[in-house]
Amino acid sequence: MTRPKKIGVLTSGGDCPGLNAALRAVVVRSAELGIEVLGIRGGYRGFYSDETQPLTLENTEGIAAKGGTILTNSRLNPFQQPEGAQVVWEQKEKWGLDAVIAVGGEGTLSVARLLYEEGFPIVGVPKTIDNDVDGTDYTFGFDTAVSIATEAIDRLRTTAEAHERVMVVEVMGRRSGWIAAHAGLAGDADVILVPERPCLAEGLIQKVQNEKKKGNNSLIVVVAEGALFRDGSDAAPRLILNNNEPDVFGRPRLGGVGAYVADLLEANVGLESRVTVLGHVQRGGSPTPRDRVLAMRLGNCAVELVWQEAFGYMSALKGASIGSVSLQKATQDRKALSPEWLEMVERFTID
Ligand code: F6P
Repeated sequence: MTRPKKIGVLTSGGDCPGLNAALRAVVVRSAELGIEVLGIRGGYRGFYSDETQPLTLENTEGIAAKGGTILTNSRLNPFQQPEGAQVVWEQKEKWGLDAVIAVGGEGTLSVARLLYEEGFPIVGVPKTIDNDVDGTDYTFGFDTAVSIATEAIDRLRTTAEAHERVMVVEVMGRRSGWIAAHAGLAGDADVILVPERPCLAEGLIQKVQNEKKKGNNSLIVVVAEGALFRDGSDAAPRLILNNNEPDVFGRPRLGGVGAYVADLLEANVGLESRVTVLGHVQRGGSPTPRDRVLAMRLGNCAVELVWQEAFGYMSALKGASIGSVSLQKATQDRKALSPEWLEMVERFTID
């Protein structure tokens, strides 16, 4: 076994609180093992733009408390570049790296898996506010996003009650409704809409009408941006979007379902409705202590994986312990709300 002397680390995809804490842990553990750390700027873009920055104990001191990422992020996918992923190999040689740690969500980790399948020495660290990466119980960034969304719901409740209005809160959650379920339950929302359970508009209208009949005119509706609507036929459930231009990954640019729900309820139930889109506020600011610590544990473990040459793996939280899972398994499918979670959501929302 050849022990690594120099490794690269990058943060890629959408940012989330905790990325800097993960970087700090990578640097601290590497320093103990005598490994030099090179930060690759802008995610995978850094390989193409030749942007790097050495990470040391000195220049990462105190960064764990800061949101964002000192390395900057992009959503660039090497496999979609005209020059292809060969550039990643060439730069690794040029920079003298023995391995790379990629900190990211599903997109970033899928690229890492493809690189690994070509023989590239890479390990992953899972992050995303959406908490939808499989193979890990939680991703860092999620706890902070849930705290922000819950605080917003608590605030919206008082104004909903004052005006006897329906307050619709659109939260992030592209493929899974983890933020909507957690913040919705914590904030005692009346309705929680998640991608895992496509919503029938008539059913939703009926529920809110029943509440109105009971005299409950102030309701909180939490909706994940990726929530789907069905029409009762066999047709595939659809996303509600206010922008039909895809993002750089060719994925739908989410946003708009909250306004759709507010309009639907106001028009059909006759309760005044307003929408609040929390958007990127959920990704900003300082990470919660829980996210910082999870990020540090996952970053620390990634260095261990490199040390053991366990390439093609990512660090993961399993119960209370940190372990690892293959990138192949982690990127096969999204981590959706389980039936148990969906049951909880139903139990604590209106019938
Ligand atoms: O990182 C995940 C996520 O926050 C999704 O919930 C959301 O749909 C997406 O990123 C937004 O991406 P962007 O920052 O590119 O608008």
